[in-house]
Amino acid sequence: MIKKILVPTDGSDYAKKAIEIACDIALKYAAPIYLLHVVSSPAIFHEGAFPAMEGILRVLEEDGKKIIEEAERETKKCGVKDVQSAMVQGEPASRIIEFAKAEGVDMIVIGSRGLTGMKGFLLGSVSHKVFHLAERIYIMVIK
Ligand SMILES: Nc1ncnc2c1ncn2[C@@H]1O[C@H](COP(=O)(O)OP(=O)(O)O)[C@@H](O)[C@H]1O
Ligand SMILES: [Mg+2]
Repeated sequence: MIKKILVPTDGSDYAKKAIEIACDIALKYAAPIYLLHVVSSPAIFHEGAFPAMEGILRVLEEDGKKIIEEAERETKKCGVKDVQSAMVQGEPASRIIEFAKAEGVDMIVIGSRGLTGMKGFLLGSVSHKVFHLAERIYIMVIK
């Protein structure tokens, strides 16, 4: 029995595939889907030391908003009605795990790779870390 499914998305094709698979599972178990995008930015951006960084951060937030809106559209198109989305800032893997724990998520469907897409590695840095940090949460990795 799956109660809450989290799909962390960076807007990559892998994450899009993850949404499709998550939808099938959500429909089977009548489970809600949580979509999460982490605006990945070094901590120094937030310390106010470099005013120019504010602009960069704003651009990243705008991109993030588009990613999450598209993910929401895709999820609803699959027929899942109970969809929640969120955007947070920080280090992606830690934020994904924090979010999953806070929301009581019991399954994470994540892309094996993302936007960097370096061939030769089985997992990207985010999916690798999420896989290792997750405790008592099912992880489905989409190739
Ligand atoms: N900033 C992010 N916010 C939410 N999910 C992410 C983020 N970055 C990566 N992911 C998730 O992790 C998967 C693997 O991405 P990643 O480990 O970053 O691989 P790569 O090194 O190829 O970019 C993605 O398909 C996506 O599901
Ligand atoms: Mg990446």
